[in-house]
Amino acid sequence: MKVKKAVIPAAGFGTRMLPATKAIPKEMLPLVDRPSIHYIVEEAVKSGISEILIITSRGKEELCDYFDYSPELEAKLRASGREEEADALRAIADMADITFIRQKEQHGLGHAILCAKAFTGSEPFAVLLGDDVMVGKTPVTRQLLDVYEKTGCATVGVSYVPNDQISKYCSLDVTPVEERVMEVHKLIEKPRLDQIMSNYAILGRYVLTPEIYNMLEHLSAGYGGEIQLTDGLNALCQTQKLLGVEYEGVRYDTGNLRGYLHATVQIALQHPEVGDWFRDYLKNL
Ligand code: UTP
Repeated sequence: MKVKKAVIPAAGFGTRMLPATKAIPKEMLPLVDRPSIHYIVEEAVKSGISEILIITSRGKEELCDYFDYSPELEAKLRASGREEEADALRAIADMADITFIRQKEQHGLGHAILCAKAFTGSEPFAVLLGDDVMVGKTPVTRQLLDVYEKTGCATVGVSYVPNDQISKYCSLDVTPVEERVMEVHKLIEKPRLDQIMSNYAILGRYVLTPEIYNMLEHLSAGYGGEIQLTDGLNALCQTQKLLGVEYEGVRYDTGNLRGYLHATVQIALQHPEVGDWFRDYLKNL
């Protein structure tokens, strides 16, 4: 079955990026000249997704504004002959069919995904976390969709994470299936060192089947008192095959300061207008 829909949870408080996120959604913080959510929507579109649901919360209206038309601004640009810039603004709003829903209380990622139930209905859907920007030759979501379309199994994007980092993520019990693909048998959120089952963790991308809702609806609060998607996946893989895809590409966690700076520098270095200038600037520092 072809996957047409994607869900982008972006309702979190973004406390690791305070004080900026006191007044600006972390997904709207710019990576050079566009907000990080732009790169995430673009990845979904380049992966063949045409309908996107962004899950927001109070105080995040800018996300909705960014994907809307700006007729006054466009008219002003066109009046002064800046047609290309006006067209570029319109193209942002026309990238995909984007809708929004609010998560009224932030009870965790699993709880946020439950807000997408009416949108996805009985279809499989991709999930792209709103603060994980991925850069790869083939979009990471496309890599997961390729495996889903071949197997019909829910898939999660996984990466190797060293012991000193994995307690920030989850640890997976896996067995290899083919190159870069593994079956997931068990997951533990934020494992202690003695709980690590492998150094594979899920980082920011998923293709889920609608059965996940049944799992999430029956969960009680897990790590941090939140409804954890990891716990839902743990239940899902007891009833159907769940595959891990070791994706090719670089992930930037723009929800923390170091990841944000890392992404900013890398994207600036590749920018067609300022990339060369920025490289020279860094060399001469
Ligand atoms: P994070 O834990 O990285 O986001 O959740 P956060 O809660 O905003 O971060 P900090 O710790 O306070 O800095 C991963 C993703 O899940 C979304 C977040 O917006 C982020 O994209 N999320 C998290 C929700 O949509 N709802 C929630 O209740 C929790």
